[in-house]
Amino acid sequence: MKIGILTGGGDCPGLNAVVRGVTKSALRFGWEVIGFRDGYRGLVEKDFVELGDRDVSGIIIRGGTILGTSNTANPFAYTLPPLGSAEKSRDLSKLAFKNFKDLGLGALVAIGGDGTLTMAQQLYKRGMPVIGVPKTIDNDLSATDVTFGFDSALKVATEAVDRVHTTAESHNRVMIVETMGRYAGWIALRAGIAGGGDIILLPEIPYRAEDIVAAVLERKRHGKKFSIIVAAEGARPEKGELTVTKVVKGSPDPLRLGGVSYKIAELLEGKTGLESRVVVLGHVQRGGEPTPFDRWLATGFGVKAAELLAKKQFGQMVSFRDFGFTSVSIAEAVGKLRRVSPKSQEVRTAQAVGTSFGNSRIAKRGENGH
Ligand code: F6P
Repeated sequence: MKIGILTGGGDCPGLNAVVRGVTKSALRFGWEVIGFRDGYRGLVEKDFVELGDRDVSGIIIRGGTILGTSNTANPFAYTLPPLGSAEKSRDLSKLAFKNFKDLGLGALVAIGGDGTLTMAQQLYKRGMPVIGVPKTIDNDLSATDVTFGFDSALKVATEAVDRVHTTAESHNRVMIVETMGRYAGWIALRAGIAGGGDIILLPEIPYRAEDIVAAVLERKRHGKKFSIIVAAEGARPEKGELTVTKVVKGSPDPLRLGGVSYKIAELLEGKTGLESRVVVLGHVQRGGEPTPFDRWLATGFGVKAAELLAKKQFGQMVSFRDFGFTSVSIAEAVGKLRRVSPKSQEVRTAQAVGTSFGNSRIAKRGENGH
């Protein structure tokens, strides 16, 4: 058999480990492997590279993806570069199928987030033998307990919280560290707990300005003149909107979030008299080497994907459940976000060590033991 691999959507640490895992397993089965460049662009434009053992040697430690990726290339609504050009998108899925056939492929492994996997499912429905591998630093896919990339992003975010502690203390300032995560607050929640953040702001728990101010003033009353806030980019006020920085045309989810921390800093300076500074971590969280956990998880995903190919279990996505590698149908997996539950044990854990979520109503629920 000959198989194709592609990585789509935003990159994240661990993608190369999956590419390596799939390729090495496939070669042992005696298959040939090619990698499409820049996600579905490579499939549509027949741009690919052959992958042999030497090509994937040593890449397990490298962040990013050796294949390149695209967050806009969609075979069903394809727009040729330049990005954002006035040209209308076209359905080039027939061309994708033709290329797949001309290249003599027996299957496609699509490694990506919700957008990439939704396209994989559409291709599968039209007859392409596809296996999906979930990736995202956001850790927000409901069909798997964890995604690779998340642990690496968490490490960066926690390190940032650790580092701002000393400078916040020296200056008696409020420091706000803003994490990624889109509509899920996992990175902020876990970095906030691990880094001992005083206030954690999540998309799942809309904040009340007066409660953030009260939490900072309360600390001040207890002689703690500095505060550390960990804010998810998707945090928003109870009666307000998300902070959007950019709209990316042609992306499965065009909204790019970021900057809510600046609003909170302004609010706090005005209401507490404490100087407030902001660190927006952005893509730093997606860069660099994957952690050992992510390398391990991604390798397991890659090997499991090859196993599914060998058994011809197409239309499946690999998943990690209850400490084991398994699979679910891509159709079942896509479109279902896993978000932080305000009533969860994790939220209560943070509250139990004095962390505020910027919403006193949630605090009350937590105290009552929900
Ligand atoms: O989904 C991963 C993610 O890094 C989000 O956390 C973030 O909101 C978004 O992608 C950023 O996308 P881009 O790389 O297109 O700016």
